[in-house]
Amino acid sequence: MKIEVNGAVAATATIFVCTTCRRKREDMPDGFDLPGADLVQALGGEIERTGASGLTVTPVECLAVCKRPCTVALVGPGKWTYLVGDLETEAHTAEIISAALAFARSETGIVPWKERPQSFRRGVVARIPPLGFVSFPPEPPKPETT
Ligand code: FES
Repeated sequence: MKIEVNGAVAATATIFVCTTCRRKREDMPDGFDLPGADLVQALGGEIERTGASGLTVTPVECLAVCKRPCTVALVGPGKWTYLVGDLETEAHTAEIISAALAFARSETGIVPWKERPQSFRRGVVARIPPLGFVSFPPEPPKPETT
C-alpha cells in the first residue's frame, strides 16, 4: 500500500518504541530503569524541533528483543521493517530520526549501508519483508567451463 499526497507518494514511517525494556542500572532502587518512555518523549521533541514530517512515534510494549534496550522498529507502508536494539536516548535520538527519514524516503525501506548511522549498523536485529513480498527464485548454477 502506498499513501499518495497530491499525486506523489508520501514519505511516511512509524517508529515503534518499546517502553517496557529494562536497562540495568546499579544506581536505581530496583536495579533497572525503563528508558523507552524517555526515548518516546525525546523523539517527539526532536521531530518538533527539526520539523521532520511524515514520522509517527508510537510506544509499544515489548518487541521481543528484551535484552537490548532500547529497541525500536521502523515500519512503513510497503517497506521492509527494521528492528534495531541497543539505542540510548542521549546518544541516538537524532540518529534515529535521521534513519527514520531515510527509511521513509526509500522506496523499499532498505537504506544504503553508507547512509545508515553507526547505531543502526551495529544494532540491527532483524529485517522483515513487507506483506505481499515475492522473492524471485535463485538462478540455477552455471555449468563449469574448463
Ligand atoms: S521488553 Fe522491550 S523488547 Fe521486550
